[in-house]
Amino acid sequence: MEAIIRPDEDSAAFLVARLVARELRANPSLVLGLATGRTMEAVYRILVRLHRQEHLDFSLCRTFNLDEYVGLAPEDERSYRYYMNRRFFSQVNLDQRNTHLPNGMASDLEAECREYEQKIQRCGGIDLQLLGLGHAGHIGFNEPLSALRSRTRVKALSPVTIEQNAAFFGGAQNVPRRAVTMGVGTILECRRCLLLATGQNKAEVIAKAVEGPITSMISATALQLHARCTVVVDEAAAGKLAAADYYRWIFANEPEWEEFR
Ligand code: GLP
Repeated sequence: MEAIIRPDEDSAAFLVARLVARELRANPSLVLGLATGRTMEAVYRILVRLHRQEHLDFSLCRTFNLDEYVGLAPEDERSYRYYMNRRFFSQVNLDQRNTHLPNGMASDLEAECREYEQKIQRCGGIDLQLLGLGHAGHIGFNEPLSALRSRTRVKALSPVTIEQNAAFFGGAQNVPRRAVTMGVGTILECRRCLLLATGQNKAEVIAKAVEGPITSMISATALQLHARCTVVVDEAAAGKLAAADYYRWIFANEPEWEEFR
């Protein structure tokens, strides 16, 4: 794992977007794993700008989102399909048929989960997976006790996650209780993982995720097992990292980061 610290939220999101853009330019038919949440909004804004101003081409790109709420239709403004269509898919030249999210309305959710895994396999696996970080330390909706080898499945949302998303639903009582999410095992199979966390309220959980012991209580700690995982944080989210000076030195001095400085 490598941790990169940028001064503020904008420069952290900018770095993530540029890393995505570099991978896409190197491989136009990239299989890109996507995440939702407030943190990712800035990344999508920058990718849309790169598409408009620098002709970043998504025409051959295939996408797979991490998760979707159970029981929300694609046209429901609170669904992740709606979020993705509005903030990203409709703003770039992605072919809608190449965009995938789990269907939270499927009558047979188990079959839906199996098929989602098969679709990822048929595309040759995910090349680059974007990840946010929940306050409960989850990636996707891999809530506490998610098996480190879990696959796409239905997961019950924890009280912390329900609280974190309450504002989008006009109160915790309206937040769906379950979601379909890629498993920790599914995420660990992606060729590269790129996690973005910003803001002081992520400082504690990011320190646990990056420097803490691996535990299924905090599914993001499983990323320590991944051979190619980059964690990008801003200074506010880096506040509790014990080895922050070391991470800053790496970004400032290692040749692989030169083009991003
Ligand atoms: C939701 C998503 C996660 C995301 C998290 C972070 O829980 N299921 O995939 O990482 O939100 O949200 P935010 O960026 O709003 O803090």
